[in-house]
Amino acid sequence: MSPTPLLFADIHHSGDHEGAWRLPSSPIEQINDPGYYLDFARSVQAGGFDGVFFADFVGYDPLVSSVIRWPFEPTTLAAAILHEVPDLNIVITSSTVFTTPEQLYRTFRTLHALSDGRIGWNIVTTGAPKTARAFGNITVPGHDERYQVADGIVDRLRERWGSDRPLLVQAGASDTGRAFAARHADVVFGATPTKDAARAFRTDLRRRAAEAGRDPDEIRFLPGILTTLGATGEEASALRDTLDGLVTEEAARHMLAMYGISMPPGAFDDAVGALVLEPRHNGIRSRAGVLGEIVEKIGPSATWRQLVATIAGSRGHLSVTGTGADVAAVMNDWLDDEVCDGFIVKFAHSPGGVTDYVASVSPHLNARGIGHRAGWPAAARPLTIPRHEPTSHRRST
Ligand SMILES: Cc1cc2nc3c(=O)[nH]c(=O)nc-3n(C[C@H](O)[C@H](O)[C@H](O)COP(=O)(O)O)c2cc1C
Repeated sequence: MSPTPLLFADIHHSGDHEGAWRLPSSPIEQINDPGYYLDFARSVQAGGFDGVFFADFVGYDPLVSSVIRWPFEPTTLAAAILHEVPDLNIVITSSTVFTTPEQLYRTFRTLHALSDGRIGWNIVTTGAPKTARAFGNITVPGHDERYQVADGIVDRLRERWGSDRPLLVQAGASDTGRAFAARHADVVFGATPTKDAARAFRTDLRRRAAEAGRDPDEIRFLPGILTTLGATGEEASALRDTLDGLVTEEAARHMLAMYGISMPPGAFDDAVGALVLEPRHNGIRSRAGVLGEIVEKIGPSATWRQLVATIAGSRGHLSVTGTGADVAAVMNDWLDDEVCDGFIVKFAHSPGGVTDYVASVSPHLNARGIGHRAGWPAAARPLTIPRHEPTSHRRST
């Protein structure tokens, strides 16, 4: 029997869509309110999610005028949420480049202990120049070398942690990224806009895991899905149009630059032509390929504004705009066809998009066992994650 699908919620302050922070309902006045994130965590826990995911891009100003994403440092925020919200699991992002192995060892050992094993580590091999600047202009190795270094670090950490280790998550899609994931990851996040792309990613990962001497069932592939919800399909589409109209040119440039694509100044209404990945881009390189396929689909005369309207919020992930039943139908279809092992759910806007999801999508998924927090830790066991059993005296205090 295949394990219960895993379901994570991706937390972004105002929502994942680049226009969301400009909605009148946006919670920008709560930017520095930890209670906002606690409420988010409680909502998704009530909605049956296994856990929440915090991305982290150190050096990107969370309060830039173009978009608001993550105002808090995720490790400390995770500790507070783990304490306040029982049964919820949290995956946080930490880079193998801008810290030391000792720090990673201590941080995750501590979080593992204080949460009884409810912590996961999204292992990233950051190469962004902005992050390098934030750390005193250190020289960052090239893309593949960073994975090689990470490989050694994770080998040693796994040995040191033993059975008290975090869930290991990875989200690199390049050849070296997938090879790394096949060796270490329990869970892989991926940006696959179509079912075929998801199937191909999952099949490739499973093949690589087997080649690395692992049981392919130990590695679980979770694509992202951006949800834009309405009580009717028309309402959802209208919300999507509103959000797209709120994306500033600056936000668009910022988003594209993360993937090594530069939009010339003042070119928002010019045709994109063929997408070109900056040859020297040392950050996320694999996404340009996914976006290039999207450009091909919408046609060579598409403008930058049209491209951005297509990828805003999803940025290469699956995107579904519709009613709760529409979104659940797509998720159930992907799960039925075994092109994925769960999802990482993104909300076009927050907090409304989260409460809408819990009210309108979760009930449709409960029927298949998702929605009762069944995915983890129960589902973590088939991942052969050695689970630390608390001693009885700790339980009784
Ligand atoms: C769902 C998802 C979440 C990600 N979160 C982060 C993140 O928080 N921080 C980061 O630096 N990279 C993040 N990434 C990027 C990847 O982890 C990875 O660093 C990037 O794809 C470069 O590796 P690649 O060239 O092997 O794809 C994320 C990717 C995906 C698909």
